[in-house]
Amino acid sequence: MTSAAGKAEQIFRILNRELWVVTSSDRDSRGGLLATWVSQASLDPERPVILAGLAPNHHTTALVRNSGRLAVHLLEPDQCNVAWNFCRDSGRARDKLENVELEGGVADTPVLTKCHSYLLGQVFACVETGERTYFWADVVQAEQHSRLAPLAEQQFIDWCDEEKKAVLRLDKSEDIGVQREFEAEFRQSIPDWLRFEE
Ligand SMILES: Cc1cc2nc3c(=O)[nH]c(=O)nc-3n(C[C@H](O)[C@H](O)[C@H](O)COP(=O)(O)O)c2cc1C
Repeated sequence: MTSAAGKAEQIFRILNRELWVVTSSDRDSRGGLLATWVSQASLDPERPVILAGLAPNHHTTALVRNSGRLAVHLLEPDQCNVAWNFCRDSGRARDKLENVELEGGVADTPVLTKCHSYLLGQVFACVETGERTYFWADVVQAEQHSRLAPLAEQQFIDWCDEEKKAVLRLDKSEDIGVQREFEAEFRQSIPDWLRFEE
């Protein structure tokens, strides 16, 4: 690791981003993952937009790509177990929503009944950059259930015991292994409209 990369890693570790549970479903499957890469992407209060950066190898990413819909949820500070449910393994192996109470009547996208708040999004743009799939989505529905500060990354990591931390480290390093390859391919073939020319 270069010294700039090492220092960058230390700086990124200082951050304490809010945690989001991103859910989606298509005709055959449903699922969700835990994410920090979710942002407000429009300043215009009349046209709220979400931008989510999901790993291309994740089950949830395929669901969003297939359906064009996603829900992003903030969690209450005491919902670390919910965060864990959505990040401990892939939804290809099990239905992560099996024991989770879901709202009825919210189109086809699974929405968690118990959460701090949620935004339901309709995707209108998608860019693949090898390491991430970025989805821009119009907010079509939103609900806030709590006025507390939502669960953030550091609180969740502090809650995880050593065994859980080891699972997360392994998941991350496997993701990096897969994504490095995708990222290298992307850099080789950036389309003209996206390539930055000095
Ligand atoms: C603190 C934390 C933040 C994460 N942020 C993201 C993220 O922004 N985007 C993403 O695709 N995965 C993120 N992950 C990883 C996924 O939550 C994890 O790999 C998940 O099990 C993928 O599930 P799936 O294959 O069922 O979609 C994060 C994990 C943790 C622990």
